[in-house]
Amino acid sequence: MKSLGARLALLLLTAIVLVVITSSFAASLVMRGPRPDMAMEPVARQLSMLATFAEKDRDAAIASGLDIIAMPVAGPSDEHLSGVLMDALKRVSEARQAMISRPPTGEAIASLRLSDGKWMVMRMPEFGPPPGGWRILMGWLGLIIIGSVLVSIFAASKIMMPLRMLERAVAEIRPDGTLPHVPETGPGEIRATAQALNGLSARVKAATESRMRLVAAAGHDLRTPMTRMRLRAEFIKDDEDRLKWLADLEELDRIADSAIGLVREEISTDGLQCVRLDTIVADIVRELSAIGMNVRSDELQAASISAGPLAVTRALRNLLINAATHGESATVSVARFGDRAVVRIIDTGPGIPEERLNQVFEPFFRIDIARQRSFPGAGLGMAIAKEIISRFEGEIVVRNREPRGLEQLITFKSPGRGAAA
Ligand SMILES: Nc1ncnc2c1ncn2[C@@H]1O[C@H](COP(=O)(O)OP(=O)(O)OP(=O)(O)O)[C@@H](O)[C@H]1O
Ligand SMILES: [Mg+2]
Repeated sequence: MKSLGARLALLLLTAIVLVVITSSFAASLVMRGPRPDMAMEPVARQLSMLATFAEKDRDAAIASGLDIIAMPVAGPSDEHLSGVLMDALKRVSEARQAMISRPPTGEAIASLRLSDGKWMVMRMPEFGPPPGGWRILMGWLGLIIIGSVLVSIFAASKIMMPLRMLERAVAEIRPDGTLPHVPETGPGEIRATAQALNGLSARVKAATESRMRLVAAAGHDLRTPMTRMRLRAEFIKDDEDRLKWLADLEELDRIADSAIGLVREEISTDGLQCVRLDTIVADIVRELSAIGMNVRSDELQAASISAGPLAVTRALRNLLINAATHGESATVSVARFGDRAVVRIIDTGPGIPEERLNQVFEPFFRIDIARQRSFPGAGLGMAIAKEIISRFEGEIVVRNREPRGLEQLITFKSPGRGAAA
C-alpha cells in the first residue's frame, strides 16, 4: 500500500475499532449483572421455601446446612435491596420481615425472620458490578488511552513526513533559488512532492540561466552601436549638445557594464581564499581618495575571511562609493567579534526612507529622480554587493543613523586573525 491517504485511513480505522472493541469489552465485563428488581423473585421464592422448611422441621433444616440464629446479621443494612426482597417475598408467597446487610467483608447477606422470632441467614447473589469493578474499568480505560496516544503519535509522524521533507528542502535552497535533488522514493504523496520540488528547481535554474544569458547578451550587444554613436557624437558641432550626448552615452555604458557585472556575480564560482579584510578596505580607501572621493578609514583591526578577493573588493568598493556619493562622506572600520569580522561603513548623507530600506538590494532600485541626476548610476551597485556577500556566506544590514546618515554593516565568518598576512 503506497498511498499515504490509504495508509492513514487504515491506521485510523484500526485505532478506532480497537478502541471501541476494547472499551465495550471492558464495559461489559464491569457492568454486566442482572437488575435486582427483575432477578429478586426467584431468589425470594427459594428463600421463602427454605424458611417454610426451617419452620416445619428445624433439625432437618440445620442438618442440611441452613444457618438459623437469634439476631439478624450485623452490619450496615442495604435499605433498597431489603425493600426489593420484602416486596418479592410478598408477591411469591407471604409477607415476611427480611433485611439484607453488608458486613465488612462486602458480600450481601439476607436475614429472614422465622415464625418463632429466629432468623434464617443466607448469602445473596451479587446483582450489581463486582466489588472493585470500577478499578478494573479505570485500568482498561488507561490502557485504551495509552494505546490511542501511541497510535496517534505514529499516525501524526506519518502525516508529517512530506511536510518535513518540504521543510528540509526549503532550508537548503541555494542563493540561485535552486534546491539540491530530493530523492523520489516512498509513498505516492511523498514521491509526488519530491517530483514537484525537483521540477520547480529545474525550472528556476533554467529561467535564471536564460535571464542571465539575455542580460549579458543585451549588455554585450549594446556596446557596438554605442561605440558607433559615441563616434558620431564627437562630430556634433554644438559644444553643449555634444557634451550632453557624450554624458548620456557614458551612463548607458555604465548601465550595460553593471548589468553584465551582476550576471557575472550570480553565476560566478570563484575559488575561496584566505583574504585580509583590513588590507582590502585600506586599498579601496586609498584608491577612492586618490580620485577625490570623500572616504576615510577608522580603526582597521586585522581580520581574515575565506572569500574571493576580487569579488569582495568589488562589493566593498560599491558600498563605499555609495557612502561617499549618495551619503556625502564615508568612514569605514573593520572589527573582529569572536569568530566574526564586521565592516562598518557610515556616512552623513540623507539616508534612505525607512519604508524603502527593504528595497535597496533590488536591481535598478534608485531613490528619486532628483538624486539620480546628481549621481549617475545604474542602481545595481548594492544588488551586486549583496550577491557577492551572500556567496561568501556573509550578511549585510543597512539602517539609518540619528540624526542623519546611513550605516552599512557587513559581517563575515572569520576563521582567524590575520591568517593570510
Ligand atoms: N549611503 C547611501 N545614502 C543614501 N542613499 C543611498 C546610499 N547608498 C545607496 N543609496 C540609494 O540606493 C540606491 C541604489 O544604490 P546602488 O548602489 O544599487 O545604485 P547606484 O549607486 O544608484 O548605481 P550604481 O549601479 O552605479 O551603483 C541609490 O541610487 C541611492 O538612491
Ligand atoms: Mg552605487
